[in-house]
Amino acid sequence: MTVLMQAHDVVRHYKVGGGLFGTPGTVKAVDGVSFSLLAGKTLAVVGESGCGKSTLARVATLLEPPTAGELTIDGAATAGVDADTRRKLRLSVQMVFQNPYGSLNPRKTVGATLMEPLEINQRGDAAARAQAAREMMAQVGLRDDQWGRYPHMFSGGQRQRIAIARALMLNPRVVVADEPVSALDVSIQAQVLNLLMDLQERLGLAYLFISHDLSVVRHIADEVMVMYCGRPVEQAAKADLFAQPRHPYTRMLLAATPSVDPARRQLQVSIKGELPSPLNPPPGCAFASRCAHATARCTAERPDPRPLDGHMVACHHAESIG
Ligand SMILES: Nc1ncnc2c1ncn2[C@@H]1O[C@H](COP(=O)(O)OP(=O)(O)OP(=O)(O)O)[C@@H](O)[C@H]1O
Ligand SMILES: [Mg+2]
Repeated sequence: MTVLMQAHDVVRHYKVGGGLFGTPGTVKAVDGVSFSLLAGKTLAVVGESGCGKSTLARVATLLEPPTAGELTIDGAATAGVDADTRRKLRLSVQMVFQNPYGSLNPRKTVGATLMEPLEINQRGDAAARAQAAREMMAQVGLRDDQWGRYPHMFSGGQRQRIAIARALMLNPRVVVADEPVSALDVSIQAQVLNLLMDLQERLGLAYLFISHDLSVVRHIADEVMVMYCGRPVEQAAKADLFAQPRHPYTRMLLAATPSVDPARRQLQVSIKGELPSPLNPPPGCAFASRCAHATARCTAERPDPRPLDGHMVACHHAESIG
């Protein structure tokens, strides 16, 4: 299987403060993440708000460099490369955002929107660009007669189809999708997820798929990474993760059963204790303050991810808690 992206101990910190508001500090938004993305497969990233998912997405799309660690794309290093190489690498990873209305230019028709990346990158002549755009419209289920329409003339689901089409115009190998269906009606979500899966199969794409919603993850993921405070706490094949979660935090997420009410289906984490601030993360396990199994070791010593029954688990007590 072809590895299209590899992250090795990727870290992204932000220096903050020092001005009017408080003392300077370091936000450890992403603090040691490793994964491999395989052609034709989806790695889903889940975790509560603020755990570093979008930061990870920005690093994976080369919008921001990692503070430490390595990211390779299709075997090629992304650090220390010249501007031209970097530009090419960047084109091979495209992003789909939560809100297609924000990412589409309201003054451009569908046709112009899809041709634009080809124009910017000087691919083909005008006729070839138009043909590629028409073919892409068909691939994502848009009709030919919608060519001249503007974003506001489409439904949310159709707009997300346009955004997906645009992301695919330059034939990326990897697509990073940050909550791509969270803004859509549940009835439309499944259609867009199925489209993403179809396109993945047809084009051999690797997906890094970020979502709050475990029912969405269950639909689309091959592998799942659960993040907490900038670090992965558990990573496993989807079926294994859902059937036998090994980390107390994963169990907590799964136990927060998705409600039938779609509006309340997002991660509802009902447990005592605050999410620690990534500005001053505790020295030991970040989850210790909320964990029923925590011992003195947990607050003193940070657990690294380690293999256990085919999962990677960052917990000192993963065996003893079953
Ligand atoms: N440019 C930045 N400067 C300082 N802190 C940042 C910056 N970007 C993100 N952060 C902080 O890093 C942490 C992770 O943010 P991030 O947006 O990656 O979380 P997230 O998991 O995507 O959350 P959500 O589910 O709400 O989208 C947060 O505490 C956030 O405030
Ligand atoms: Mg986010």
